[in-house]
Amino acid sequence: MSIVLGFETSCDETGVALVQDGRRVLSNEVASQIDIHREFGGVVPEIASRQHTLIISQITEKALRDAREAAGADIEIDAIAATCGPGLMGSLLVGLSFAKALALTWRKPFVPVHHIEGHIYAAMLGERAPEFPFLALVVSGGHTQLIQCERPHSYQILGTTLDDAIGESFDKVARLLSLPYPGGPSIQKAAQDGDPKRYRFPRSMTDRETLDFSYSGLKTAVLYALRGEDGPPPVADLAASFQAAAVDILLIKTQQAIAQTGAKRLVLAGGVAANRLLRDRLTGELGIEVFLPEFQYCVDNGAMIAAAGAARFAHGHTAPLTATAHSELGL
Ligand code: KG4
Ligand code: ZN
Repeated sequence: MSIVLGFETSCDETGVALVQDGRRVLSNEVASQIDIHREFGGVVPEIASRQHTLIISQITEKALRDAREAAGADIEIDAIAATCGPGLMGSLLVGLSFAKALALTWRKPFVPVHHIEGHIYAAMLGERAPEFPFLALVVSGGHTQLIQCERPHSYQILGTTLDDAIGESFDKVARLLSLPYPGGPSIQKAAQDGDPKRYRFPRSMTDRETLDFSYSGLKTAVLYALRGEDGPPPVADLAASFQAAAVDILLIKTQQAIAQTGAKRLVLAGGVAANRLLRDRLTGELGIEVFLPEFQYCVDNGAMIAAAGAARFAHGHTAPLTATAHSELGL
């Protein structure tokens, strides 16, 4: 049995969690800064790192308290994990330095975790955990990738975005439509009352064999459609048509990746994994086993970092306390 304490501070969520055996969440505290950044229409890095600093100790105390209650006894932490990149440098350093300080004080091993590996390991926190090998579709604010996961910690990136990430395009299109930040949930909500067929937006790159993505053309198409309207913009129809195209692209590319690799399992990962249309279409249309993260583990959180940290720790992947953050870290 192992218990890992995980920290996530790569962007605008302060996440601290305790996870047992890489699967059972004893506690998962997430403090979102969305309300603070909303008035700026996006994350302000300097404010984000300061906010992490203000809140991280109380979030950690709460996570430790909740975990003790869940376990019904005192708990012995075996390792401390923290996101080391990619992400906002100042924000990453807050969680990483805090985690390393605890590792030093408590004399515990320190495990740095790649943010995307964390998102992939969110799938291990569900009722069913995927077995290797599997294909991962990573869809977040900074990433859109199809990754072949052959065995633990062996990743082959099959396709990636050439321009905007999918979450970024939701956020940018929401801004065009004057919908609040973050754009993903706002667009999903607006799209509920819209006609997804009113605008036929482009499905870029889907007629090619490459597994790479492109989302900037879709955003521009929404901008032109918006400019072409004389009266008040039909926001619901624009949101629904955009969401339909954005999700269509993911479906088509994932189907191509399955055909090329013969994958039997798909793991969905990242903040955009919270999108209902995407979840429904992946489970309904792929014909292979699909593992969706629970909603609470889609957006950034400490539990996914603790889960990935537990797997790293089990393989002896600890690091000296000189380990630092990297804003542009490759998987
Ligand atoms: O993984 P995440 O929390 O942060 C990064 O690692 O980037 O993902 C955040 C992204 C944002 O772009 C947000 O708009 C998007 O996930 N998102 C969604 C939904 N919920 C969050 N996109 C589409 N539909 C949603 N329901
Ligand atoms: Zn993320």
